[in-house]
Amino acid sequence: MSNARRNAYLEVLGLPAFVLRRRPDGGAPSDRSEAWTRLQARVAACTRCALSATRTQTVFGVGDTRAAWLIVGEAPGAEEDRQGEPFVGRAGQLLNSMLRAIGLRREQVYIANVLKCRPPANRDPLGSEVAECLPHLQGQIALLQPKIMLAVGRIAAQNLLRTDESLARLRHRVHAFGESRVPLVVTYHPAYLLRTPADKRKAWEDLKFAREVFARV
Ligand code: URA
Repeated sequence: MSNARRNAYLEVLGLPAFVLRRRPDGGAPSDRSEAWTRLQARVAACTRCALSATRTQTVFGVGDTRAAWLIVGEAPGAEEDRQGEPFVGRAGQLLNSMLRAIGLRREQVYIANVLKCRPPANRDPLGSEVAECLPHLQGQIALLQPKIMLAVGRIAAQNLLRTDESLARLRHRVHAFGESRVPLVVTYHPAYLLRTPADKRKAWEDLKFAREVFARV
């Protein structure tokens, strides 16, 4: 994404466009981290949908804000809602192992969800909730500028790609996310893999595929 396009996008979201300004002391650029802080505060205060009434807290995202890899799940579960961090439950442990299998530590990637609030009883996100929440993720993507996105699970993949194609049909392909056409690869959700360990082998194929795609970008 060009700087002009990214800044135009941030402006639409009401976030300050930033220039990579150096501090007088020669320190790191600060505007970027201010933009992240503003976006996180905006998400924390969000009441765009009814999930704001039932959440314990918003679950913004975690990881390296300069990461090349963006991992996107569906929505926070009970443990994430309690701790305020995505993928911290059993599925999160498996996600960490999946990342390690392709040489990535959790701290080296950025992890977020399509929804920032937990749907009651972990039901699937409603279309209206996704529509209200997606601008938050788009803001994160505009700031992060990832080189590759990994959508974990059918719900995340279908909502990001605006399709109702099955997960089976979405795997093994390089999709392009949004206007910036970020390469996006789809794999199984770790919670599904906990229930269906026989499919871990297929997830491993997806991860190797994603690693190959990343090597080419
Ligand atoms: N499942 C998700 O999709 N996201 C989380 O953060 C946790 C479980």
